[in-house]
Amino acid sequence: MGREASGREFDALVALVTGAASGIGRATVTELTRRGAAVAALDVVPPSDGDEAHAFTADVADSASVERAVTETVERLGRLDVVVNGAGIGAVGGIEDNDEEEWHRVFDVNVLGMVRVSRAALPHLQRSKTAAIVNVSSIAATAGLPQRVCYSASKGAVLSLTLAMAADLLTDNVRVNCVCPGTVDTPWVHRLLDAAPDADRERAALEARQPMGRLGTAEEVAHSIAWLASPASSFITGTALAVDGGMSGLRLPPPSA
Ligand code: NAI
Repeated sequence: MGREASGREFDALVALVTGAASGIGRATVTELTRRGAAVAALDVVPPSDGDEAHAFTADVADSASVERAVTETVERLGRLDVVVNGAGIGAVGGIEDNDEEEWHRVFDVNVLGMVRVSRAALPHLQRSKTAAIVNVSSIAATAGLPQRVCYSASKGAVLSLTLAMAADLLTDNVRVNCVCPGTVDTPWVHRLLDAAPDADRERAALEARQPMGRLGTAEEVAHSIAWLASPASSFITGTALAVDGGMSGLRLPPPSA
């Protein structure tokens, strides 16, 4: 049986996942491990692995910390084939709301964090025959969402970064893609709901915004990330995959029509 048919298409491959302690990153660690990868789980909060993952505490906003984690990953696990850039932070507000410090902080984590990790990983990825980078962008990159100016701009940058990196790394055989999730039921969204004046109403509004009428799950996004990262997706690079319950592509009549 081939590796793909066995569901273990990452056997003998090593993946590094950032933002691995929670939500989408954590689910991605589980999914890649299930499919046979040895996984380095990196987060600024110590990832509570409890499974087969190798935990690394590192801050993607700090180059030295990222370089150390990548070096240790390769020392411990022997190689690096897949990078999933999942670490991200949010920001709420319109153009008049976020001060410059917050703009710099959000871009430092959400955009430069991916640059730092990808740059440190690149020499190792170039040695792999099945190298892939998957960046976690957002529906906010392609749709105007209210009160998310700074965050949306950072995720738009992630989308552009993905396309440009895919072009540059084509001849190195490093595929670069991103996912653009809609609203996903993770601790991040729970924090936003907790801060809302009426959490139930806010949740219902988020659910109604997505044509499937529900939030996505971290596992659904992890599945799409693993699919893009898989050696079986060898003809796919420079793609943004919407994982959003139809939010970006569908135009449905309002519920009352
Ligand atoms: P989460 O808050 O549950 O997990 C994010 C993880 O990133 C946390 O474990 C956090 O400690 C880590 N992290 C934050 N800053 C870091 C840093 N400087 N260095 C290393 N790790 C750091 O969030 P969730 O929802 O799982 O989000 C993951 C990614 O998915 C983010 O990039 C987010 O922008 C993106 N996304 C999330 C959506 C959602 O609705 N939950 C929708 C679209 C995109």
